[in-house]
Amino acid sequence: MGDIIYDASSRCWILQMEASTYCIGLSSDDTSLQHLYWGPRIASAEALEMAHPPGSSLVPFESATGISREEYAPWGEMRFSEPSLKVEYTDGTRVIEWVFEEHGLDRAGESQTLWLRFRDRAYPFTVTLYYRIYEGHDVIERWVRLENSGGSGPVTIEQALSADWQLPSSGRYRLTYLHGRWGKETQVAQTILGPGKVVLESRRGATSHQFNPWVALDPEARATEESGEVWSAALAWSGSWKIVVERTPYGEVHCAGGVNDFDFRYRLDEGARLELPAFVGLYSSEGFGGVSRGWHAYEREQVFPEAPEAVRPVLYNSWEATEFAVNERNQMELAEKAAELGVEVFVMDDGWFGMRHTEYAGLGDWTINPEKFPHGLNPLIARVHALGMRFGLWVEPEMVNPDSNLYRAHPDWVYHFRHRSRTEGRNQLVLNLAREDVRAWVYATLDTLLSEQQIEFVKWDMNRYFSEPGWPDEAGRNPERVWLEHVRTLYGIIDELRRRHPQVAFESCAGGGGRVDLGILSRVEQVWPSDNTDALDRLRIQEGFSYAYAPRVMMCWVTDCPNFVTKRTVPLRYRFHVAMAGALGIGGDLSRWTPQEREEARGFIATYKRVRATIQNGLLYRLRSPRAGSVAASQYVARDGSEVVVFVWGHSQQFGETRVALPLRGLEEEAHYADSISGATYSGAYFAQKGLPVNLVGDFDSRMIHLVRTTPAR
Ligand code: GLA
Repeated sequence: MGDIIYDASSRCWILQMEASTYCIGLSSDDTSLQHLYWGPRIASAEALEMAHPPGSSLVPFESATGISREEYAPWGEMRFSEPSLKVEYTDGTRVIEWVFEEHGLDRAGESQTLWLRFRDRAYPFTVTLYYRIYEGHDVIERWVRLENSGGSGPVTIEQALSADWQLPSSGRYRLTYLHGRWGKETQVAQTILGPGKVVLESRRGATSHQFNPWVALDPEARATEESGEVWSAALAWSGSWKIVVERTPYGEVHCAGGVNDFDFRYRLDEGARLELPAFVGLYSSEGFGGVSRGWHAYEREQVFPEAPEAVRPVLYNSWEATEFAVNERNQMELAEKAAELGVEVFVMDDGWFGMRHTEYAGLGDWTINPEKFPHGLNPLIARVHALGMRFGLWVEPEMVNPDSNLYRAHPDWVYHFRHRSRTEGRNQLVLNLAREDVRAWVYATLDTLLSEQQIEFVKWDMNRYFSEPGWPDEAGRNPERVWLEHVRTLYGIIDELRRRHPQVAFESCAGGGGRVDLGILSRVEQVWPSDNTDALDRLRIQEGFSYAYAPRVMMCWVTDCPNFVTKRTVPLRYRFHVAMAGALGIGGDLSRWTPQEREEARGFIATYKRVRATIQNGLLYRLRSPRAGSVAASQYVARDGSEVVVFVWGHSQQFGETRVALPLRGLEEEAHYADSISGATYSGAYFAQKGLPVNLVGDFDSRMIHLVRTTPAR
């Protein structure tokens, strides 16, 4: 049972979660909130014993507060490590001195939210720290609300992070994080923290391919895939962000994160409030696998817009098949072929609008191209529906090509500075969503599109990052707010579209995985992890993705060979087995698939539909990392334990070694499990000890094994 307890005598708050405890307390003078405990679950009385840490000895050149373990550090006094908050008041005062004012606890359904309000001693400025926990989880959502209650002018926010996570004093920590670039997203990296800071960030206006806002920390690099303590944190923000992991000169490690302060300034007018995005923390004593399962469960139950048990449909996307050359005829042909395979959503990608024949023109002109679709989209949509599929459409609403009617009419609608170039990325510029006229136009355009056509799926793309993020008309009136407002407007538009068109599911894409984070994932059903659809490369991308995000939202397409990125050719079966590890899609040119390939595909899709609930929503065990050798494997256990799916992918065979035995995880020792094809039945204990035997022959061989529990659950 989770609960938040306040102990008035020690002025401490204890957050009791499923298997962990978190404890914070006020300093005796009410001017600082101290971190006391975060780790395995302990009794509240034990947590309170931490309320009186041994008095720290005086350190020359430091103050006691400056080197204490604060939950949120307003810049001021003698604080020299990464601050959480820095502001400037109208009279030029640039430090904060705050004092605790009030706290409260809100209970709603399965969640409890603790809030603690601090007020500046001299200025009408308050900071409220929020902590939310959920029944059955070991997750803490932390965020902050800043408020200017008025009377002494605007307050300029220069840095405002969402939370600062203090790690237990355990010596050396290892940091695990996800990095990459276009076509190579979510690669796992690890480093031992030395003294100083590691800064992971995006200054790009969006989440970024380069770093994903997710980290894990384990003391002494002791954690393995299935054992050891790991503390993890992830940001719910799709704009420029920053996570600072710092080891202080006194050996303490903390991890502060939120909106990036680079080029940032936000003017909080009198009476205004600013709510910062959540920086979510999670503790697990079951290694990296435990951390991932903790994140997946939290996402499914508390973050994703769909119900925890919902399953994503099998999707077809036209991009790799027809690129910009879409038309009624070729899309209908692809739709017929897709339906025959068992596809459930048909998505027409880029190229259907304006003068969009190449990437040089048309973005911004969201009217149906009359040459490609002389009768509009309705005949195609009707055909797709008649074939029993849902219809989806690609859009990139935040962007404009200079060669477009929109740009010709509104050259001032894009981010730009006077006397400076407008640097193009993929021949396009970014619309200034902070402008009310632009926001209204984007919303109305999409609302009309979704109202006039029976569209059930939107792939929302974003194919460049920000440059020259200026807004000349607002010079002197805080144009730097665009860093925040762009993302808030984006969220607002998607939220409003979802309310008005509840039948539409959304996919977030940014040239692949450039916008994958807990913020966007609370308002889209799925994401596109990478434009790289090469099955072997995908194993590495999908592995890193799975550290932070649930398989259900990970869209994976089977595409044609040789792959357009790697020029590699691998068997269709291997491509299917890799793509079936998430939400399955097809992205190949079906008009060129042979009858035999189509027959094979039909079989894989039918199999996938039988087991997808377990893959998308089950417990994931990464049995073998694709980074560790020539065989990789993942196992999924249904939440009720009734079935198990294992994928084994071998990429190159050496020395004639064909046999692999994979000890399985998460099974009931005494239960029996039968292979749904061969019928071979063994106990959970056998599979855990002896392992699941698999024979892989040659290069790029793969298997999917489906085990069904035959003895009743305990
Ligand atoms: C991006 C996406 C692709 C495709 C193209 C269309 O690159 O990641 O999947 O939609 O845009 O231009």
